[in-house]
Amino acid sequence: MRMDSIIEKKRDGLSLSEEEIAYIVTNYTNDMIPDYQMSALLMAIYFQGMTIEESASLTTAMVESGDTVDLSAIDGIKVDKHSTGGVGDTTTLTLAPLVASVGVSVAKMSGRGLGHTGGTLDKLEAIEGFHIEISNEEFVNLVNKNHLAVIGQSAQLVPADKKIYSLRDVTATVNSIPLIASSIMSKKIASGADAIVLDVKTGAGAFMQEASEAEELAKTMVEIGKNVGRDTLAVISNMDQPLGYAIGNALEVQEAIDTLKGQGPDDLTELTLVLGSQMVVLAKKANTMAEARAMLEENIKNGRAIEMFKTFVEAQGGDSKIVDDPSLLPRANFQHEVKSERSGYITKLIADKVGKAVLLLGAGRQDKDSVIDLSVGAILHKKLGDSVTKGDTLFTIHSNVENNDEIVTMLLESIEIGQNKVSDTLIIKTIE
Ligand code: URA
Ligand code: CA
Repeated sequence: MRMDSIIEKKRDGLSLSEEEIAYIVTNYTNDMIPDYQMSALLMAIYFQGMTIEESASLTTAMVESGDTVDLSAIDGIKVDKHSTGGVGDTTTLTLAPLVASVGVSVAKMSGRGLGHTGGTLDKLEAIEGFHIEISNEEFVNLVNKNHLAVIGQSAQLVPADKKIYSLRDVTATVNSIPLIASSIMSKKIASGADAIVLDVKTGAGAFMQEASEAEELAKTMVEIGKNVGRDTLAVISNMDQPLGYAIGNALEVQEAIDTLKGQGPDDLTELTLVLGSQMVVLAKKANTMAEARAMLEENIKNGRAIEMFKTFVEAQGGDSKIVDDPSLLPRANFQHEVKSERSGYITKLIADKVGKAVLLLGAGRQDKDSVIDLSVGAILHKKLGDSVTKGDTLFTIHSNVENNDEIVTMLLESIEIGQNKVSDTLIIKTIE
């Protein structure tokens, strides 16, 4: 096989065979294909696209480029969830214990975050004593016993994706649906998921800004899943504004606890129930979404969901007293209220800008070596469509420095107040 003729084929809009795709991925990962040829191929894919069969072959070849996690020692169907990234997105912290409470096995492999707030691991480390350095054996035992455990990524998963993504990043080829879809699906499959639930974000701040693009990405991933024997469902959700009210690691842990007790924000609760229902159906613990949702709602009401969170935290060394006494979570030294300078309705609340302000407070990593401050962040007091009167509090900043002028300016720039009440739809569509 020759790389130049493969590039030519894709340039001319023809489909590549499974063997050709495997050849490309293996040899590029092993440094046998140079960056200039791979760049040309990626650009050809960017313009010509890929069929579902090609995308599925690409996904499989990427999975096979490195280690895969074997979860076969865990009973039942392992369902994983992936979100394409949201500001203040606390759904892993709410979903995992909630679905585990109805008997779904959640063997969660998590990473540290880059950007506005930490990843799930960082957030969990806001709980005193909680640790993710457990052996694979302990991980398997905990999931079999409690239905839920979280471990840090140790295996060398999908090295092909790391290498290809770095090249895409500097060749203007990130934004290609088959490349994004195979990148995301390969990582979930290599982590051992039998079935996958996807939360594809759209709107300002999401990288699929148009709902139609988000839908195409979701459909592509669902079809790849079918092709490679992993049942996949997806939700297209709106990220025109941050999810919930809390942004920042310890603040989000608190928000997740409230939600598991049935006292969380409406949007976070709704997204958790929709994604959770899909997970329960994929795990074959319910036959319909309605049945699954009723089971989840019941466990929030009867306290089993928050009990599962306590069990999970204790099993990994954490202090579960934070559930009843949130003052035990890390707290910032200063709280600063940001007041509205005018009256009207919130017409815009740009998630991206709020995320950047929180990053600057120290809640997220600017680069992979940054040390994050788990206590800082922001609490929103108003959401899209809410009415405001001049002098109302829009945000509370939780900070460890006294002067927060720059953050105040950024937060005020994230909000627009007008005279018309706008509404937004959280769940745009579900894809099955
Ligand atoms: N996230 C991924 O994991 N891969 C992409 O290609 C884009 C976003
Ligand atoms: Ca939140």
